[in-house]
Amino acid sequence: MAIIEFSKEMRWGAATAAYQIEGAADMDGRGPSIWDTFSKTPGKVLNGDNGDVACDSYHRYEEDIQLMKELGIDIYRFSVSWPRIFPSGTGEVNEKGLQYYHDFVDALVENGIEPMCTLYHWDLPQALQDKGGWDNRETIDAFADYAEFMFKEFNGKIKKWITINEPWCVSFLSNYIGLHAPGFTSLQLAANVAHHLLLAHGEAVLRFRNSSFEGEIGYAPNTEWNEPFSNKQEDIDACRRATGWFVEWFFDPVFKGSYPKFMVDWFEQKGVTVPILDGDMDIINQPIDFVGINYYTGSVARYKENHDLLDVEKVDIGYEKTDFDWNIYPEGFYKVLTKIKDQYGDVPIYITENGACYNDGVENGRVKDQRRIDYLKQHLTSLKRAIDNGVNIKGYLTWSLLDNFEWAEGYDKRFGIIHVDFNTLKRTKKDSYYWYKQTISNGWFDMVYK
Ligand code: BGC
Repeated sequence: MAIIEFSKEMRWGAATAAYQIEGAADMDGRGPSIWDTFSKTPGKVLNGDNGDVACDSYHRYEEDIQLMKELGIDIYRFSVSWPRIFPSGTGEVNEKGLQYYHDFVDALVENGIEPMCTLYHWDLPQALQDKGGWDNRETIDAFADYAEFMFKEFNGKIKKWITINEPWCVSFLSNYIGLHAPGFTSLQLAANVAHHLLLAHGEAVLRFRNSSFEGEIGYAPNTEWNEPFSNKQEDIDACRRATGWFVEWFFDPVFKGSYPKFMVDWFEQKGVTVPILDGDMDIINQPIDFVGINYYTGSVARYKENHDLLDVEKVDIGYEKTDFDWNIYPEGFYKVLTKIKDQYGDVPIYITENGACYNDGVENGRVKDQRRIDYLKQHLTSLKRAIDNGVNIKGYLTWSLLDNFEWAEGYDKRFGIIHVDFNTLKRTKKDSYYWYKQTISNGWFDMVYK
């Protein structure tokens, strides 16, 4: 027996995002987002998939909430589709879209589940992209106006807010690597977008504080760990850059009011500068109530001259991998969490995403996803180690409640603890659902026993 036990205060949950599950893309006055445009551009998303229907949670949320209730989660993290509220990003409110979220949040609360609301999980209104998107500073104000509108509208109902989900993906993955919407490939553009996202986050926090809305606010950067292949200084430095691109780039401005010099110097060598105007860093450097951490994978890595952007080469030391081909690296979860505590202090942390892609299907009404259970056990063990080492963990939310539209991978990659048949939209609880339910109800699991 190897029992991993959590305190009674630990909050358990599951997460999703609007474009990945809602469907109803043209319903009730929703405006188009950059993900509608991108997914309908040939060649951008695997198999030409898009989020028009997804899990149809827009119509099936009552069923989904019953599944959450039976699971026993305390918190459900979802995101609001900005273009359902403001179809053109600003201006006229779409009452029907707003009503949907009121009904949905009321139903969650009636069922004893606390809503955790992400304001931006990647579906920028297309009308704003047409004016330059996150490259244009006007988008910062548009976001802050939308955020403030939501704070007012849901004051007292939603008490946990996340401004931006994974700013690294929104900036570098989407505007430099080009894999996600809007799909550009300029490093300077990506650096601008990253800065403007941090400003949008800061502005939203300011609006939240200025009107003394009830509840807590934070953001959810993605993290990753890179372990030096050797003790050579060049390998250590390479890994520092690789992790720093995710962590320091998006944490230092918020927690320290400055960008990390080692990264800024590196980017300057590439001819890139961050477009900081007077006063920007003060706006970004707002105290937050919690930070949301998303963690999936890590690697061993080493220096390689002129390799990719950061002169870093990942070394495959024979990891087990998920069906997304991501390394399973639970040690990195522990290390990222302790690094955050060491560098940024005792900030309360919610794990806002952690989970794995396994594509097991339904056989005789059952989904045997033991590999997902193993992944979750390993990562929860790392989490417990972090807690025992003083990291201030408030809760753990797995990604994801449902199989869903996995961005550039379409419906080909499954992260849910509930299987969704994308033809019939039938939900089937996977073995991992039952395992998670038992873990939540016990507050512990046995690491060894299967
Ligand atoms: C995102 C999710 C995504 C998950 C798995 C995160 O990057 O926030 O929307 O589905 O990882 O790729």
